[in-house]
Amino acid sequence: MIGKPVDYDKKFKDNFPIFPAKLDFELRKYLTLIPGKEVLDLGIGQGRNSIPLAELGFNITGVDYSTKCLDICKSSCDKLNLVQCDIRNFNIENDKYDLIQSRFVLQFLHKKDSYEIIKNIKSNIKINGIVYIYVFSLNDPKYQKNSISSEFELLENNIFHNKIADTYISFFTKEEVLNLFEDFKTICICDEYRLELDRETPYYAGFIRYIGQRIK
Ligand SMILES: C[S@@+](CC[C@H](N)C(=O)[O-])C[C@H]1O[C@@H](n2cnc3c(N)ncnc32)[C@H](O)[C@@H]1O
Repeated sequence: MIGKPVDYDKKFKDNFPIFPAKLDFELRKYLTLIPGKEVLDLGIGQGRNSIPLAELGFNITGVDYSTKCLDICKSSCDKLNLVQCDIRNFNIENDKYDLIQSRFVLQFLHKKDSYEIIKNIKSNIKINGIVYIYVFSLNDPKYQKNSISSEFELLENNIFHNKIADTYISFFTKEEVLNLFEDFKTICICDEYRLELDRETPYYAGFIRYIGQRIK
């Protein structure tokens, strides 16, 4: 493991953002492809996407480092199985999960760690299981911002090291994500850039969204 996990409890101590639960519109289209009811959410956050899935009858295991996020999950839904730990230390049980999602999380790791997690997801998800990964793209304005900030050092492969917090932030390309899942069936791959309105001050964001299926 390289560096420390991003500590949301510390980072947002006095101004914790609240993300209301809302089933991801892209995943909603593909719910019928999920072969069963077991879901693993790596970096569940406040359960934005998993609470609506729990309400649809899915059994959710949610992992997160932030106790504050997990408390928000608990107070919003009593059906979640929650685990407080660094996702790099979480053992994915083999052949248990029908859907494994990690939305807006793997970008907060050094790629050596995120690639390792993706390898574990791929080898442990059930055959026909669905993977949902959502990460920052190179078009995200934070890439340029970090490039000129003295807080960050740009390493190889579009990884930034935050020298003060000893954390990492990584930016991905569509080809890179497709390459990581070359043995999976691609259901959806999108390179997105848009104005986000979920915070007090609107901001632009760039993402790679990947949904794929294990076929062998
Ligand atoms: C932007 S939020 C996304 C939350 C959720 N996946 C969603 O779609 O709303 C990122 C979450 O990842 C968690 N996180 C980041 N790095 C982590 C790590 N190494 N281990 C566990 N959780 C982590 C943070 O605590 C935070 O709750």
